[in-house]
Amino acid sequence: RYRDSAVGDKMNPFAEQEAWEEHQIGKATLKFGSKGKKQVTDDYQYVFEDRIDFIKESVMDRIQYEDALGGEIPEDAAAKSALQKLKEERKTLPIYPHREELLQAIEQYQVIVIVGETGSGKTTQIPQYLHEAGYSKQGTIGCTQPRRVAAMSVAARVSHEMGVKLGHEVGYSIRFEDCTSEKTVLKYMTDGMLLREFLGEPDLASYSVLMVDEAHERTLSTDILFGLLKDISRFRKDLKLLISSATLDAVKFSDYFDSAPIFKIPGRRFPVDIYFTKALEADYIDAAIVTVLQIHVMQPPGDILVFLTGQEEIETVDEILKHRTRGLGTKIAELIICPIYANLPTELQAKIFKPTPKGARKVVLATNIAETSLTIDGIKYVVDPGYCKIKSYNPRTGMESLLISPISKASAMQRAGRSGRTGPGKCFRLYTAYTYHHDLEDNTVPEIQRTNLANVVLTLKSLGIDDLVNFDFMDPPPSEALLKAVELLFVLSALNIRGELTNVGRRMAEFPLDPMLSKMIIASDQYKCSDEVISIAAMLSVGNSIFYRPKDKQVHADNARLNFHTGNVGDHIALLNVYNSWKETNFSTQWCYENYIQVRSMKRARDVRDQLEGLLERVEIELSSNPNDLDAVKKAITAGFFHHSARLQKDGAYKTVKNPQTVYIHPSSGLAEVHPRWVIYHELVLTTKEYMRQITELKPDWLVEIAPHYYQLKDVEDSGLKKMPRGQGRAPIK
Ligand code: CDP
Ligand code: MG
Repeated sequence: RYRDSAVGDKMNPFAEQEAWEEHQIGKATLKFGSKGKKQVTDDYQYVFEDRIDFIKESVMDRIQYEDALGGEIPEDAAAKSALQKLKEERKTLPIYPHREELLQAIEQYQVIVIVGETGSGKTTQIPQYLHEAGYSKQGTIGCTQPRRVAAMSVAARVSHEMGVKLGHEVGYSIRFEDCTSEKTVLKYMTDGMLLREFLGEPDLASYSVLMVDEAHERTLSTDILFGLLKDISRFRKDLKLLISSATLDAVKFSDYFDSAPIFKIPGRRFPVDIYFTKALEADYIDAAIVTVLQIHVMQPPGDILVFLTGQEEIETVDEILKHRTRGLGTKIAELIICPIYANLPTELQAKIFKPTPKGARKVVLATNIAETSLTIDGIKYVVDPGYCKIKSYNPRTGMESLLISPISKASAMQRAGRSGRTGPGKCFRLYTAYTYHHDLEDNTVPEIQRTNLANVVLTLKSLGIDDLVNFDFMDPPPSEALLKAVELLFVLSALNIRGELTNVGRRMAEFPLDPMLSKMIIASDQYKCSDEVISIAAMLSVGNSIFYRPKDKQVHADNARLNFHTGNVGDHIALLNVYNSWKETNFSTQWCYENYIQVRSMKRARDVRDQLEGLLERVEIELSSNPNDLDAVKKAITAGFFHHSARLQKDGAYKTVKNPQTVYIHPSSGLAEVHPRWVIYHELVLTTKEYMRQITELKPDWLVEIAPHYYQLKDVEDSGLKKMPRGQGRAPIK
């Protein structure tokens, strides 16, 4: 018996706590005084010293959660074999009763839009139904996912359900990792991979069905796929096209695909109580941690899902939660912390799907991936700080940045809904009701309207689509962004003055990389250092997860990292040093531990590097090495990234050379204390400031030498710093 006290006693923020005291104390392990009065221990105080007050939203029906209970609860199948149990589970999914109807509709129509809530079984079941119905005899059944993690975990799940080995009948394909074989009939892949498959097979002849899943996410690749698939469906009448979405904006998809019918899978949801904070929270990370602990000690059993914006945040929260719960020892029930984000290795991902042991509680720390792509059973509480990482792009300056931005109302709804899948749920929003109603946008802007389009333009041009302005976009990108992309490809010599693909462009398109990285590799041929450059490209591709910096060993970790920077070689060369040193140890795991380097990131870099090496052959570049000429390597980098150049200002900040903008060296850079006068950066990230990440020192004449069509001498004159002798302002090497 748990009194939902917040309803009756809205004004008393401690009402819930009291309810907990009344009803939960008996079983809780917290110690109480002899008189039955609460004896607050220091640790307990610690959890609540900064507790957050929530107000329940009174107008619950705004969210229109159906109260309906659907389906039967599966009987205890412990005795049955695991496979049998999975088979039974499949029958309990909301989509199951509509199997025949759906198959009939697919037979009748070429294109169908499918709408169903997250967890209804769209992703895991529909491809299996199609396989069972014989579609796989005519060709592969492909299903796209916006995220790598989703493609892998869903493929793993489906292979379990079918009782086959992953990579055999059921496989997945993500960038730099192909887990499919001759046998594969169900193929899960990222939308970006399917886009690349067009390059090798423009009519996708090997597929019988394509399901564009999570269409509501409107990723850049999904949007481009819409146009290409719509086009090929006109002459490939045998190809079935399914567009599936978790939200109700299906009419837009239907309109786009020439009024394709909409198949709606009736939802099954439980009511979700939504709580808002009373006041604005200054620090949502801290607020999230406090809220998780509050839920853990005060709320009835049920797992928690916390939405964070990225790996770094997840690791921070993970660490603090571990620390705080350790402090509480056995005074509270066990809290199992499960992180989930794109770079998480597969073995660890599996942990989030494991049922929570009795008496414990699971808290899943997830990125947006858990909003719709992944369904985790047993979630009863959602903590929603209201932010996500969004790519934004300024076509005027050509600057791309990852910004932590407020989510949309649609996202907030999806997040809340995650708590009501298997029973009534609660969603704790770490923002006020006012913010929700007045500040959040209704929908997230599709990625195509806020990103750099260079990659897409290169792909489309490679597919022979020259008239980009008249391409059938569902929502066209800003023309300024298209123009900027064409301009960038032109300065990289991928397009000629008439906007046609050049030989260089054709070779660049062979690489599943950003055009700048591809150009850097193509250029490495000229500088005879392709061996070094593909290692650098591979290391850059695995992102910022090479170095490991545990909170309690920061000094050791930083020293280990600086070892690779000896001589202030810059971040690119440091990455190369890391890779080569690891290779010298014969790819030793122990070596990684000793040097505070993440071994799984390194293994991934090695895989990426192997593939890039394979691709060199396709573009007729020989593997050549020039270990003693670092300038050659830096010149190759410059050939790809010359428009990412910046010059030191008197105040220690930097100004980008073209489209002047003030930027700073990211504190994680090996050159952060060095302040070279001229640098080239890999990317800009906007956190507290506009930071350049992964930078290398550069000689300004290289800009004119390598990109004479882009830089003139006057751009690279050291006017502002003439009086400062070279070397001044350099901090001693640590
Ligand atoms: O695509 P949709 O959101 O409609 O549902 P789904 O991803 O096909 O998930 C159906 C069910 O499969 C969920 O209830 C999950 O419990 C289960 N599932 C799982 O256990 N592990 C996965 N990796 C994916 C799904
Ligand atoms: Mg799905």
